[in-house]
Amino acid sequence: MHALLRIPVVLPLVATILLMLLVQSTRRQVSCRVGAPLDVESVDSIASVRDEVRQLRELVENDTHRRHEDKSLSDPPGESPKTVLVGLLTVPSKLQRRALIRSTYLQIKPPEVDFFFVFGTPATLEDARLLEWEQRLYKDIIIIDCEENMDSGKTFHFFDHVARTFPDGKYPFVMKTDDDVWLHLPNLAERLQSSPRQGTYFGRSVQDSFMAGMGYAVSWDIVKWISTDSFPGENKIGQEDAMLAWWLQRGQVIKNWISEDYEFYDDPSFKEGWAHDYTPGTILVHRLKNETLFIRASAHFLEPQKTTRR
Ligand SMILES: *[C@@H]1O[C@H](CO)[C@@H](O)[C@H](O)[C@H]1NC(C)=O
Ligand SMILES: *[C@@H]1O[C@H](CO)[C@@H](O)[C@H](O)[C@H]1NC(C)=O
Repeated sequence: MHALLRIPVVLPLVATILLMLLVQSTRRQVSCRVGAPLDVESVDSIASVRDEVRQLRELVENDTHRRHEDKSLSDPPGESPKTVLVGLLTVPSKLQRRALIRSTYLQIKPPEVDFFFVFGTPATLEDARLLEWEQRLYKDIIIIDCEENMDSGKTFHFFDHVARTFPDGKYPFVMKTDDDVWLHLPNLAERLQSSPRQGTYFGRSVQDSFMAGMGYAVSWDIVKWISTDSFPGENKIGQEDAMLAWWLQRGQVIKNWISEDYEFYDDPSFKEGWAHDYTPGTILVHRLKNETLFIRASAHFLEPQKTTRR
């Protein structure tokens, strides 16, 4: 993905679009659809995987409904209005990264942020069971109607799912992010609270043409537009971050283009490109490819005193 991301950095927008069309035509066969064929291990029968997946979906749906019902009875005391729903697109096998995220930046998640790990349809019995158990414990799982494939339309299905599943207007913003970042949720929420809530496309722009896929947010009107206009669904295969900008530009729905050029950056150890030292206003640190880097960032943001002492 990062190799792909670098190509548009050296090419003008026209070339980017040509590339997207090329990628799209060569990958059209890996479409994301309901009832996609399952990649089943020899010991699992297709029927038992389907059963398990059905149960997982039902569990997630039940939990989602319960959440909405609780809210509609009356706002529980201390419940703040929401600012952003964050969806982190990942795969079942990255359990250790989820454990790290839950133990670190989710510990400082403000109440106005709701956070979910987003998966395509699990392909094995083990994956489906694992996600079911995690959902029972953490209630932070979203399953979308999509095969688990990079750039196979997962981003489209995420926004579409959110638009159709959550109450209209509950979240002024919806963010998509990846599992190789450290996300500073209090800073993110604060920054979005003071941002316009119509036609907003927020992130870090690559050559003024799209917001980098490591993390970007759009306002709720854009989420609805993605879900209701036919163009995004018909053009969902390709490099997801550039594709999204292409949809929005074509639909002329961007009114506020907000690129945070300093607070979205690469890990300091990277020493090139977008890398610089950690900042107090950090929103997102990218390229945390291994657990050492992730834990170092966590130590900096969660235990600043200890980090300076060392
Ligand atoms: C979901 O809720 C329905 C209705 O309350 C219940 O019958 C069903 O067992 C629930 N499913 C799961 C997986 O919890
Ligand atoms: C993690 O990545 C950093 C930077 O590339 C490297 O210095 C470090 O040795 C890596 N740690 C592990 C455990 O692979």
